[in-house]
Amino acid sequence: MTSKSLWMDIDVAPDARVLDGAQECDVAVIGSGIAGISTAYELCQRGKSVIVIDRGRICGGMTSRTSAHLAPLCDDLVSEMTKIRGHEATKLFCDSQAAAIDRIEEIQKIEKIDCDFRRLDGYLFQGRDMPSDIIDQEMDAVREVGAPVHRLMGVSLKGCEGRHVLRYPRQATFHPLKYLAGVAKACSENGVTFFRDSPVVEVTEDNGVVTVKAARGAIRAKHAVVATNSSISDRFAIHTKTAPYRTYVITFEIKRGAIPDALYWDTEDPYHYVRLQPGPANTDYVLVGGEDHKSGEADDADERFDRLEAWARSLVSGLGKETHRWSGQVLDTIDYAGFIGRDSGGKNIYVAMGDSGQGLTHGVAGAMLNTSLVFGEDHPWKDIYEPGRVPLKAAKNFVTENITAFKSFAEYAAPGEINSLDDLKLGKGAVVRRGLKKLAAFRDEAGALHLRSASCTHVGCHLHWNSFETCWDCPCHGSMFDVDGQPINAPAIGPLARVED
Ligand SMILES: Cc1cc2nc3c(=O)[nH]c(=O)nc-3n(C[C@H](O)[C@H](O)[C@H](O)COP(=O)(O)OP(=O)(O)OC[C@H]3O[C@@H](n4cnc5c(N)ncnc54)[C@H](O)[C@@H]3O)c2cc1C
Ligand code: FES
Repeated sequence: MTSKSLWMDIDVAPDARVLDGAQECDVAVIGSGIAGISTAYELCQRGKSVIVIDRGRICGGMTSRTSAHLAPLCDDLVSEMTKIRGHEATKLFCDSQAAAIDRIEEIQKIEKIDCDFRRLDGYLFQGRDMPSDIIDQEMDAVREVGAPVHRLMGVSLKGCEGRHVLRYPRQATFHPLKYLAGVAKACSENGVTFFRDSPVVEVTEDNGVVTVKAARGAIRAKHAVVATNSSISDRFAIHTKTAPYRTYVITFEIKRGAIPDALYWDTEDPYHYVRLQPGPANTDYVLVGGEDHKSGEADDADERFDRLEAWARSLVSGLGKETHRWSGQVLDTIDYAGFIGRDSGGKNIYVAMGDSGQGLTHGVAGAMLNTSLVFGEDHPWKDIYEPGRVPLKAAKNFVTENITAFKSFAEYAAPGEINSLDDLKLGKGAVVRRGLKKLAAFRDEAGALHLRSASCTHVGCHLHWNSFETCWDCPCHGSMFDVDGQPINAPAIGPLARVED
């Protein structure tokens, strides 16, 4: 089965066109995922003229690959965040994430968006053969930040009667693309223009004017918000504070009512989760996810899906046929909060990145924060998400995550994965050595060879083949490239260098 998410059939902003020529507006928003579209919405509601521009289809990035939990507590555990950020900052972080969910609830109500939004309970349950003390530590930390939490024994999953559990009330979930299609429609009705298939190649600022340059046109604006999932304006510093992880989701049909509608996730590291999404007639979809690994460091998706399925079948009775499987990437930050606010390189350029596994709430909180900054207002969340912050207590995470870059550059000295291009089978990709160079080689089903440099165009790390997604992944900061070398995920802007066959 090829990679396709449960949400991808929805067309967001179907009238979007390619940017061709010069455009002007108050704010150019680069990137049309939840961060970009939510920012456009907040700004146009307050009277700004806004243009949204995207490299591909509107909302075709990581937002179309999410699993759509709307959970306000720190995804990496509140107890862990408190150790690094302290009590006050952690409380403000959780409050901001909760406010983002309130805002989604409000917007879908105001704009009458039919997107399956609902409030429900979340259950963190003790992983199989895991100690229970993590549950107690987490309960104490969550209570300290003032969020509601209840300690239980057992959860409504098969064989989990004896597990230690925390119940969090007032979590939420929705259909992310139905929601964003509605928000984009409201934006269009308020004068926002959407451009698709228009990769931005440069963002510059001169005398208070920001220029956003694409292949066939440019936008002049008073402000730009860079919402490209991973920044294309700050080219280096911010990326040393994030690390890309690939994560997997598989969905099955299930009879409605088989398990209570709630969010469930375990205490394993990386954790697994299960949740429901309404389907047709009397059927629901069960989403099961996890099995994360650092991007580019494994190419064994089938085994990971097998493990997810086995985990789900051990906990949920009556799982029906598989309907979808897909993977995507999250950008973990070293201190668990995103980087949102004024970009270090520009007065009128703002950034929103670093989802830490909760990019939906980060996207919406970021839209609220960056909108205030565009209006020159102060905001209580500014320091929590300050892009230039140096989190000294996260030094250990900084070192651990940045070792990847050293390992990646060392790979240039290693032999190729195959000795000769003749060894490359149909539909396969591999890195090949040619003299001092490493080449990214892919042979398509018709036998044609697609050959590019294996050096990422962001800052040069060594790429790895991803056979499930049929693309090249960069382990350093999360860029991805298609088999012809075109970037399909930021921060890379330029294509992989051509090489002669
Ligand atoms: C499998 C999975 C499960 C997840 N589960 C959850 C969850 O349960 N809850 C949660 O809160 N979060 C979750 N996340 C994270 C969350 O979905 C993402 O972090 C979030 O959707 C990212 O939104 P975004 O707007 O920042 O980025 P994107 O949706 O990736 O949007 C960025 C856009 O920028 C565009 N772009 C990039 N470069 C350029 C350029 N040069 N020019 C023009 N456009 C450009 C891209 O084409 C893209 O459309 C999950 C992620 C994955 C992959
Ligand atoms: S993403 Fe930074 S080097 Fe590849």
